[in-house]
Amino acid sequence: MAFTIVGTGSALPKRKVTNDDLSEFLDTSDEWISTRTGIKTRYVCTDESLDDLAAEASEHALADAGIEVKDIDLIICSTTSGDHLMPAEACAIAERLGASCPAFDVSAACAGFVFALDTADGWFCRGRARRALVVSAEKMSRLLDWEDRSTCVLFGDGAAAAVVEAGGKSPIWSHLVTKPDVASLDVPGLQGTSPFGSTEDAQPSKLLMKGRKIFHFAVSSIEEELKALEGESGIALSDIDHFVFHQANERILDAVAKRCGIDPSKMAHTIQETGNISSACIPLALDRMSREGSLHAGELVLICGFGAGLDIGTTLIRWNKEQDA
Ligand code: UT7
Repeated sequence: MAFTIVGTGSALPKRKVTNDDLSEFLDTSDEWISTRTGIKTRYVCTDESLDDLAAEASEHALADAGIEVKDIDLIICSTTSGDHLMPAEACAIAERLGASCPAFDVSAACAGFVFALDTADGWFCRGRARRALVVSAEKMSRLLDWEDRSTCVLFGDGAAAAVVEAGGKSPIWSHLVTKPDVASLDVPGLQGTSPFGSTEDAQPSKLLMKGRKIFHFAVSSIEEELKALEGESGIALSDIDHFVFHQANERILDAVAKRCGIDPSKMAHTIQETGNISSACIPLALDRMSREGSLHAGELVLICGFGAGLDIGTTLIRWNKEQDA
């Protein structure tokens, strides 16, 4: 089976937070954050809910595809930071859009968009859907320890969506991997108030990360995946037109470009403006590139998400959406 991305959309909160804004209440600086990560700003929700952002991104994607919500057979949302522990964020999106198709979430952290795309492809393969709305929506600001300068400066909020149709020329190559390791990037679940539970060892639901370990996992795993892609698909990295990696750290992108011999100008770079918005980074970059006119029908686009899990998902697609006049 195969799929084609026929529309994209995105939505960011109004409030843009600079590194200097953060240094007003944290022992940090624009100099440290910029040189260690490449991040200059990120968007953080104030009065917007994640439901708002996810619905707005979805509406933009549907409009871009020229498709009405009644023509969508499936909604998948990738998130780890939804407005509701239950129901799925996808159900809230369906309600906002007035959809009546099946809707559920996929939780694969920063690799979520790639895992969700692969799940939609599985529904196409089984003939259970012809069109899917794949949304990645993250309100990372609710998971952060705002007193921990080593993590809270890295993340932002946002949502992005893609309308995906069965048929076409993608994926050309796809690979999903989990290298199980919970402790390196963990947000402990809610403790609850069960009278039968133990509160010993209870940890707050705040993001804990071993940054260096994740950094090395990211660089070495991306290199492994790109070598596998070249070996198994017969397509050289030099033949790929665009590389849309998860945006966790500009230095990860630099290291990958160097190790794998990728021209950095072929790589998406949105981290400077948005910080790390987990699974929303990749579809947001695709939406930006599509609207700027830098993606052309027939071009090869590599997307690769990595993060907690430790999950890594890599897919090579052929962009098939014509530019709007
Ligand atoms: O999307 C999920 C996947 N996440 C990632 O891929 C993140 C990958 N990891 C990274 O991007 C980097 O490891 C970080 C940006 C998180 C950290 O960069 P680093 O170069 O590995 O720094 P470090 O953690 O080794 O810290 C170096 C120093 C420490 O001070 P000492 O112990 O050397 O005195 C930290 O306390 O920098 C200090 N530091 C800060 N200083 C100013 C840590 N955070 C800050 C900060 N401002 N915000």
